[in-house]
Amino acid sequence: MDTLDIAFAEARRYLASLDSRPVASRGTTADMLAPLPAHLPDQGMDASEVVRAIAAAAEPGLTGSATGRFFAWVKGGALPAALATDMMCSAWDQNAVLASTSPAGAVLEEVAGRFLLDALRLPAEASYAFVTGCQMAHATALAAARHRVLERLGWNVERQGLAGAPAIRVLANAHHHASVTRALRLLGLGSDCVVPLGSETPGKVSADALRNQLADAPGSPTILVLNAGDLNIGACDDFSLLCPIAQAAGAWVHVDGAFGLWARASARMAPLVAGIEQADSWATDGHKWLNTPYDCGMAIVRDAAAHSAAMRMTADYLTSGGAVRDPMDFTPEWSRRARALPALAAMMELGRSGLAALIDRCCDHAAAIYDGIAPLPGATGIARPTMNQGLVRFDGSDGSNISDAVIATINASGEAFVSGGTWNGERVMRISVCGWNTSSNDVARTVEAARQALIAHR
Ligand SMILES: Cc1ncc(COP(=O)(O)O)c(C=O)c1O
Repeated sequence: MDTLDIAFAEARRYLASLDSRPVASRGTTADMLAPLPAHLPDQGMDASEVVRAIAAAAEPGLTGSATGRFFAWVKGGALPAALATDMMCSAWDQNAVLASTSPAGAVLEEVAGRFLLDALRLPAEASYAFVTGCQMAHATALAAARHRVLERLGWNVERQGLAGAPAIRVLANAHHHASVTRALRLLGLGSDCVVPLGSETPGKVSADALRNQLADAPGSPTILVLNAGDLNIGACDDFSLLCPIAQAAGAWVHVDGAFGLWARASARMAPLVAGIEQADSWATDGHKWLNTPYDCGMAIVRDAAAHSAAMRMTADYLTSGGAVRDPMDFTPEWSRRARALPALAAMMELGRSGLAALIDRCCDHAAAIYDGIAPLPGATGIARPTMNQGLVRFDGSDGSNISDAVIATINASGEAFVSGGTWNGERVMRISVCGWNTSSNDVARTVEAARQALIAHR
C-alpha cells in the first residue's frame, strides 16, 4: 500500500468510527508514546511505517471532535469538500504568499474572499485575510485599526513603532474573548489599554457607558471592540446603536464575530447582529461555524488601505504586484499554506441556502439540548440559546453546585463532550453547537447522557 493510501485509510477509519467511539479520548500518554521510537532514530524509517506508527500513536489520544456530539468550546467538524480540499492542499504544498509563488493559491483565495464577503453580507470593497484563527484575525484587523487611529494623529506606527506614540485606548465589551487581549498584547498595546464596558443587559455594551468613555478622552486614539456572539450565551452587541456613536467620535469599531458573524448568513438569525456591517473590521473563523478543518481564521477590514499599510512587506527576492492580489499584503505570515481553499470548498458545498440551513439547524439543536436538559431534576436553565450557545447549572441534592462533576461524568461516558464556564460567578455547563453533522439523534444521546450523569451524582 502506498503511503498516501495508508493515510487515507486511517482518515476514513477515524471518520467511520465517529458514531461509536467515545467523544473524549481515553488513551494515556503511555499509550500514545508506545508506538513511537523512544529517541530520534539514527536511520530514517520507511515512510509507510512512519505513517502507521503516527496513526497508532495518535489513535488513543484523538478527541472525537469531528462528531455531531462535540459541544465544548466552539467548533464544528469539517465538511466533506473542505476536508478533501485541505488534504489536496497538503499534497500541493503551495506557498500562498504571492500570486507569483502560487497562482492557484492567490486566484482561488480571491474567489474565497469574494464569496466570504457575499455570504456575510459585508462591504464588497472590504479587504480580507485568511489567517490561522480568530485570534490572529483580531491581531490582523487590530493592526489595521492601530495604523489608522495613529496615522490620523500624524504617527506612522509601522515606521516609528509605539514608543512615544499617542496612547491607544481599547474600549471593549466586558465579555470580550481572551484572544482579543492576547492580540492586543502581540500588537504591543498591552492588556492595560483595555477599558471594559458592560451594561444591565448581560453580555452587552451600554450606549451610555460608551458615550461616557468617549467623552472622557475626546480626541484620543480609540478602538471599540464589540461582540457578535460571546461564547457563553451568544450575546451580540447592538451594532446599529453603538457603531455610529463610536465612529462619530473617531473610534474604529472592531467586531469579534468568531462564530456569531455567521448569523448574517441566515435570514432567521441575522436580526441578532443587525447593523454589524457598519463596523470597521471583523474577525471570524472558518473552523467554527463554516465547518472547515482547523487553521482557518478570517480578518475583514473595510479600510483596505489601512489593512495593507499594516501588513505589507516586501523583499528584493520576491516578485510581487500584478493583476491578482498578493495574499501577503494582507496577512501577518510570510510563508503560508493555501488555507483559503478549504473555506472556498465549504462555501461552495453549502451554497447560500445550505449555509443558512446549517446556522438555523445548529441553533435549533442548541435549543433542543437546553430544553431537554434544563427540566431534569438537579438542572437549572441559566440561559436558553438565542443563537447556538446556552448555559445550564447542576446542583446536588444538598444544593451545592455540581456542574463540573456532572460535566466530567458526561464526558467520561463518551456519549458527548461539553465544557464548563463561569457565568455571573457560578459554574455552569456550556452548550455550544456548531457542527454540520449534529443530528436530532445526537441531541437525544446528549440529553440522555446528562440525565444519567445527574442520576449518578444525586
Ligand atoms: C468569541 C471567540 N472569539 C475568539 C476566539 C478565538 O478563536 P481562535 O481559537 O480561532 O483563535 C474564540 C474561540 O473559541 C471565540 O469563541
